[in-house]
Amino acid sequence: MSEHNQIKLTKMNYDKDRPKAENPLKVMDLSLRDGHQSLFATRGRTEDMIPVAEMMDEIGFWAIETWGGATFDTMHRFLNEDPWERLRTLKRYIKKTPFSMLLRAQNLVGYRNYADDLARAFVDRAAENGMDVFRTFDALNDYRNFETVVPVIKECGKHFQGCICYTMTEPRMGGDVYNIDYFVNKAKDLEKMGADSICIKDMAGLMAPYDAYEIIKSIKKVVKAPIHLHSHFTSGMAPMTHLKAVEAGVDIVDTCMSPYAYRTSHPAIEPLVMSLIGTNRDIGFDIKELAAINKILEAEVMPKYKHLLADNKMSIIDINVLLHQTPGGMLSNLINQLREMDALDRIDDVYKELPKVRKDLGQIPLVTPTSQIVGIQTVNNVLFDDENERYKMITAQVKDLCYGLYGKTATPIDSAVQKKALKGYSRGEKPITCRPAEVLEPELEKAREEVKGLAKDIDDEILYAIYPVTGKKFLKWKYGLETPPKEVMAKSLEEALKDQEMVAKAGRGELVEKKKDAPEKSDQTRKFNVFVDEEYFEVGVEEIGGAPIVSYAQPVATPVPAAPAASAPAAPAPAPAAAPAASKPAPASVDGTGLAAPMPGMIVSYEKKVGDAVNEGETVVILEAMKMENALPAPVGGTIKAVNFESGDSVAKGDVLCVIG
Ligand code: CO
Repeated sequence: MSEHNQIKLTKMNYDKDRPKAENPLKVMDLSLRDGHQSLFATRGRTEDMIPVAEMMDEIGFWAIETWGGATFDTMHRFLNEDPWERLRTLKRYIKKTPFSMLLRAQNLVGYRNYADDLARAFVDRAAENGMDVFRTFDALNDYRNFETVVPVIKECGKHFQGCICYTMTEPRMGGDVYNIDYFVNKAKDLEKMGADSICIKDMAGLMAPYDAYEIIKSIKKVVKAPIHLHSHFTSGMAPMTHLKAVEAGVDIVDTCMSPYAYRTSHPAIEPLVMSLIGTNRDIGFDIKELAAINKILEAEVMPKYKHLLADNKMSIIDINVLLHQTPGGMLSNLINQLREMDALDRIDDVYKELPKVRKDLGQIPLVTPTSQIVGIQTVNNVLFDDENERYKMITAQVKDLCYGLYGKTATPIDSAVQKKALKGYSRGEKPITCRPAEVLEPELEKAREEVKGLAKDIDDEILYAIYPVTGKKFLKWKYGLETPPKEVMAKSLEEALKDQEMVAKAGRGELVEKKKDAPEKSDQTRKFNVFVDEEYFEVGVEEIGGAPIVSYAQPVATPVPAAPAASAPAAPAPAPAAAPAASKPAPASVDGTGLAAPMPGMIVSYEKKVGDAVNEGETVVILEAMKMENALPAPVGGTIKAVNFESGDSVAKGDVLCVIG
């Protein structure tokens, strides 16, 4: 046990008035950002943070993480909330404790490197709206991507926390790439850049307790800035890792309130407080105050989110992260992607392919956005490659990575993969070696022009600049130009509890409520095909007060062939194919070859319009799937006869996006 951790035999109690430790461990709370991002798909709403906000301000956290990471994206896309407004609202309740955000350096709160003008404006506005600590990371640990944002953080008088993304290529720290020298050198680099504190960001929960001890001891020997540890619980090691980090002298650790803790999230605060009471690292928090917060969260907030827990497994640790080093968020993305493509049985192939793709792409750390980039490319390889050709469908982001647009990879990118990715790449076939943003044209002015008349201030413009498609949609909701769909609206506690009761009833087989007076069938009814052995029913379902009620079911001529199979990936489908309810069906008279969506996703843009000539293989549609953009090539040459969707539309796998004749 280190000299910092001697037990002091003083009178111990749970209250704040117990003797103060010599070197209390500082704690940042992540419940309001990483907590719900890890456990509840980032769906936490501001209104559900307010009930405990003032109490959390009293605890004594070093900072509370309130923003950044995926929140900016999710809020405007799925919650109909203005991300900027969350900061201003929470500031009214949390007045003493600094706010912290996770900033993806030059990627800001998006998935690519943005131009310098946008990056500067974003940081400036985040500071102005209430951000205090800028926890800044780059997915490649390429600190040239910090060069633009750091001076703005400093000019705004805010705290610059530099991150080292923790990753490994071996079961434990070591090997040729991510060894102790790597991490110590990165810490020195950050201090040279003026880091007010240094965070070791263990996003996948891979850091073993004794590796944490060694890293923190070694870094503290050569660096003065406080050391902050961010270690996800995912593998189950984090509480042990915390304790060894405390013994090694770590200054700050990250935890969550217990309802937001564990699984792919973080260790809980309460056991750590208890573990250190009476030691010279005693955190000093009042355990009863923490319990009071948890009581409110459990009663008023958690019922609205429980159903979002990614799985119903008994085990709260993820064995795959120990076996395959696949971070939790990335794993659930991969599983969703495979499920939507009816290929869940290929998960083991994905595990096998993943380390190969990562190696090909320069052994990069797996953290947003590189975890998505590597993950989705892996899925594409597993589903679309054959024995004659690897990397058949390369995402736009992998092309950007190969070009150098994300920065320098830990090891060189495989030259054959790089060459293939850059063939015909719009910026050029020769990769760059300079700081990536140097090749990016300023983009804020252009965005401002595009969103003129809709955006009312700079915050709106930045939102649009980072998220052009969904941002524009949100601004239309915000200013009442379009009605937001029901699924983005908040649910009340009553509705959430009622839903839970219905689910529980269904589970017990008690859900046989028969309405005496059948309601009028509304035009909200959605039709479902239900197959029972050889029988086939068409069932109409409509939603009343949030609970699904079956309104009618009618048998249809039997037997019928199985449901029409979705067209094979990228295979030309006859047009017009059956379009989903929400889509615009292709005109019945159009003859030609359809371009079918090889995966579900959202249309980013059509590169061609009706009447344009295309060559076989030329890009026709950009489809965003799992946040990666895929350029879909024309299956045949000819003329575009019909375009069946528009930018922003969601499409299912097999939907015919356009017809070429
Ligand atoms: Co995290």
